[in-house]
Amino acid sequence: METTAQDIDTLFLEERRFEPSGDFAARANAQPEIYDRDFEEFWESEGRERVAWFEPFTKLYEWDPPYAKWYLGGKLNVAWNCLDKHVEAGRGSTVAYYWEGEPEDERREVTYADLLTEVTKLANGLKALGVGKGTPVGIYMGMVPETPVAMLACARLGAPHTVVFGGFSADSLAGRLQDMECEVLITQDEAWRRGTTVPLKKTADEAVAESPSVRHVIVLRRTGNVVPMEDGRDQWWHDVATDESECPAEPMDPEDLLYLLYTSGTTAKPKGIAHTTAGYLVGVAATHHYIFDLKRDEDVYWCAADVGWVTGHSYIVYGPLCNGATSVLYEGTPDYPDRDRWWAIAERYGVTILYTAPTAIRSHMKWGPEHAEKHDLSKLRLLGSVGEPINPEAWIWYHDHIGGSRCPIVDTWWQTETGMIMITPLPGITTTKPGSATKPFPGVDAAVFNDAGEEVGPGGGGYLVLRRPWPAMLRGLYKEHDRYVETYWSKYPNVYFAGDGARVDEDGDFWLLGRVDDVMNVAGHRISTIEVESALVDHQEVAEAAVAARNDATTGQAIVAFVTLKGGAEGSVTKLEELRNHVARKIGPIAKPANIVFTPELPKTRSGKIMRRLLRDVAENRPLGDTTTLADPTVVDEIRSRGAEEQSKED
Ligand code: PRX
Repeated sequence: METTAQDIDTLFLEERRFEPSGDFAARANAQPEIYDRDFEEFWESEGRERVAWFEPFTKLYEWDPPYAKWYLGGKLNVAWNCLDKHVEAGRGSTVAYYWEGEPEDERREVTYADLLTEVTKLANGLKALGVGKGTPVGIYMGMVPETPVAMLACARLGAPHTVVFGGFSADSLAGRLQDMECEVLITQDEAWRRGTTVPLKKTADEAVAESPSVRHVIVLRRTGNVVPMEDGRDQWWHDVATDESECPAEPMDPEDLLYLLYTSGTTAKPKGIAHTTAGYLVGVAATHHYIFDLKRDEDVYWCAADVGWVTGHSYIVYGPLCNGATSVLYEGTPDYPDRDRWWAIAERYGVTILYTAPTAIRSHMKWGPEHAEKHDLSKLRLLGSVGEPINPEAWIWYHDHIGGSRCPIVDTWWQTETGMIMITPLPGITTTKPGSATKPFPGVDAAVFNDAGEEVGPGGGGYLVLRRPWPAMLRGLYKEHDRYVETYWSKYPNVYFAGDGARVDEDGDFWLLGRVDDVMNVAGHRISTIEVESALVDHQEVAEAAVAARNDATTGQAIVAFVTLKGGAEGSVTKLEELRNHVARKIGPIAKPANIVFTPELPKTRSGKIMRRLLRDVAENRPLGDTTTLADPTVVDEIRSRGAEEQSKED
């Protein structure tokens, strides 16, 4: 914990307070009594209020640590809740997504009725290919309306999906397809990104070649450029999705698998986080309703994340659609063709609620407020942040320059594992503090524990834990029970260990302090040190590699790799680029080290364990911690001088 002490001091100097405005409070979906509600009463009534059931649930939950079951005895379908429910209620002509392609002239308004038609067509097509309840389907696509369509078509049939972020490599995609034993992969020819095309189908082909379970590949035509199609295996989306006749939504059990989403852990193999049907849907819909204060007939909501991450699953697709929201979906990057692209979009659709990540806010901050100033953002009334601790400066910039000093900010803490937001202000109720995620959501029991498992009092730092199950919690790691227990439930008995450092202040507000394990957070993406190390060692000339993160002004953390080449070879600029590209090929460009320091030796203990703590000190340019357990203490000095050389080359 010593490395976070500095953050704690800085954060605690933050004394600015932002009271909710009376007008906002008067109309807010969440009123102060919400915090007094009984946990069971709260989730029971949310279960009835947010979700429509084919058959009502008979028991709220069952807790057999470390596994929970929620809303037992009920029957429901997630796609039905996201689509048919609204169309049947006469809201078919409501816009579900205002979609904007990266090429500026490409725009579509997709209503709930349109979405239902598209989902029905694709679901019928999938059915004809043999997809049914329980058939695992992979989805490897960009930010097009067909990505939610694909997810919902699976949900309609009861086929669990795994969405793989379009920036991941063929190896990463293959690993996920193999692990889940996907039978179908849905992809697109190419995606647009910053004016160039990303060859998704080509990457998918490489992955499918390594994934024998995949029988069919469905390809959406997006850019229209020619891509090879393999006879008998590949088919165009528009040839598969033709049958508009009704496709009944499969009545699902509450605990049927809805999806797996793979995320980085502390070993090289990503974890398949399992989310099921009922609890997940209630959890994301309830949090979306209260935290974003959604007024579905007035608001235009924009979650600017990628559908490929959990934020996209919960707060672009399932939560907002279940609540009947009108959302914006944007395909491209924030700075294409210009740095005001986001603000042009926000103005065009009259966005009222914006949810994004600190790393994006810091990029906009770096580009300057003039880009937002060119546009009318006066409709915005609520801002959200997610993915990493938000620095008070970024919070204030967001508040002043984007929110016009009038919008409450909800800094929401949660994880792929939690499925839903867990610690957050409630707009209209909470007095916010820049840098603090403030209070557990109603019905959530969060605390900070010390090493011994005692609750830490006000002002003390420790580990964030969750003491009670919640509806959207993960139902385990796919096919890895032992790892599930080991990762989340072994530090403290029957208490969920989140892997984050945290502090609670005198007002009971939580301050998140970053990961305490070997997981890095680069631009809001979770990347494990070991995954990057394995990718480096996979290169034929690398003997050994260790990876650490250093702070970075824009991306939060940046990856620094320490590499020993085989045969004592010296590094070079070409080798550096080669290794960076190798990591991009193995994992994806997001995992490329910002810096590589070549060194003849890595610092190790006498038992041969690499001392990553010391490498973090070197990466951060800090004084070294305790070196007495090192087998050869001169190694770090050598690395440090090499690191300094690299630095001066960069300058
Ligand atoms: O370290 C915390 C950080 O992101 C981790 C979860 O990452 P992932 O599963 O990829 O999900 C990201 C989107 C929910 C957490 O363990 N994190 C997320 N939100 C915050 C945060 N750290 C501080 N403040 C937040 N608001």
